[in-house]
Amino acid sequence: MPGVVVVGSQWGDEGKGKVVDFLTERADVVARYQGGNNAGHTVMFGDRKFVLHLLPSGIFRENKRVVLGEGVVIDPEALLEELDALSAQGVEVGDRLYISDAANLVMPYHKAFDKLREQWRGAGKIGTTGRGIGPTYEDKNARRGVRFCDFRPGYEAIFCARLKEILEEKNVLLRSHYRSDEALFDAEEICERYAVFYERVKPYLCDTSVLLNEALDAGQTVLFEGAQGTMLDVDHGTYPYVTSSNTISGGACTGCGVGPTKISRVIGITKAYTTRVGEGPFPTELKEGPVAAMLQDRGQEFGATTGRPRRCGWFDAMVVRHAARLNGLTDLAIMKVDVLDTLQTIRICVGYRDQQGNQYDTIPHWLGNYGGLEPVYEEMPGWNEPIDGITELKKLPQAARDYLQRLSELVGVPTLLVSTGPRREETIMLGDF
Ligand code: IMP
Repeated sequence: MPGVVVVGSQWGDEGKGKVVDFLTERADVVARYQGGNNAGHTVMFGDRKFVLHLLPSGIFRENKRVVLGEGVVIDPEALLEELDALSAQGVEVGDRLYISDAANLVMPYHKAFDKLREQWRGAGKIGTTGRGIGPTYEDKNARRGVRFCDFRPGYEAIFCARLKEILEEKNVLLRSHYRSDEALFDAEEICERYAVFYERVKPYLCDTSVLLNEALDAGQTVLFEGAQGTMLDVDHGTYPYVTSSNTISGGACTGCGVGPTKISRVIGITKAYTTRVGEGPFPTELKEGPVAAMLQDRGQEFGATTGRPRRCGWFDAMVVRHAARLNGLTDLAIMKVDVLDTLQTIRICVGYRDQQGNQYDTIPHWLGNYGGLEPVYEEMPGWNEPIDGITELKKLPQAARDYLQRLSELVGVPTLLVSTGPRREETIMLGDF
């Protein structure tokens, strides 16, 4: 099987880490194509739990190669910390890790700007993760980014002169607009610090597009691991409350340098309900009440990167149908179904209505700016018994099977996999992979 994209179909935190880890057993290479250490992918097997921010979730399967493509923005300090933490836990990456030398780097000033801009926006803040992701993509697109290949030995003076020019503008902005004298940056100091990071990362650097295309041409299976989710896509999400990259499956092509003809399958990961971290519209959000508290508690809905509580609500078929279209989903993976075990009745959003009573069956682009849409619900009976850890469809109560069937019907995509717990083993496979 050639290229397979695993993509989030809601607002992130759907459980991509678990699915990628699970499917990697049957793949050869796993590549991340966008985002940076704003992501938090949790992988659990046996009694071990790992949270990855940058490295692909395939890292725990021996002999599988993992890749960070040029579309990923990399904070080298965070990358080295993650590698060291894994090594301390007995997971050695060795020569299985490949990083694009064209990947843009998160620089110290990107993190400073991320935080200052959020403070400046006040109540209108995006609720970013504060990891410098937006400012790094801004500089990348404005053609003033810094890439690993800029540290090429022998070219240090040229790079440092360029960084000085970049910093002149940043420092003026910091001083005059943000009135922040503390956060002024010095090119020489950054050059020295990043040269040390470069030395450690150098063994992993290469042209990852060449590697991935060779693997695909040799008939190997490459999993492209998306970060965040479709509704956080910079073009197709709830703009401006989005991240700064193309999270959708098309991002795998641009972010890894592979053609669309190499992608044969796109698996959309969705929770059996909905969550969101940070600000922005969320039509099916339950702002308070026992169901919201239950989802938060049983689902352990706290951000894996920032620890912030996630906002929780009912499954929104409008959102996942939107994701099915934008990503060309061929399969669904439905996660955390066991979290709903205690409910008598479950609601599913099947449409939106505005204050004038107009109905919507697609998501309007102004939703991010203006909000104001109310969900239209249908109800289904809950199963009201524990299903955690079940690994066969026929062992699920009929009401749970009906619920899963209805989600797949509303989204218009068949279900490949159902997750009944956080561990690798707690998975029901419904199709072939
Ligand atoms: P940024 O990516 O840090 O700029 O944050 C932009 C928005 O995306 C914020 O609402 C974040 O909470 C959200 N976000 C970024 N990364 C993730 C993620 O991995 N999971 C869920 N939300 C995320």
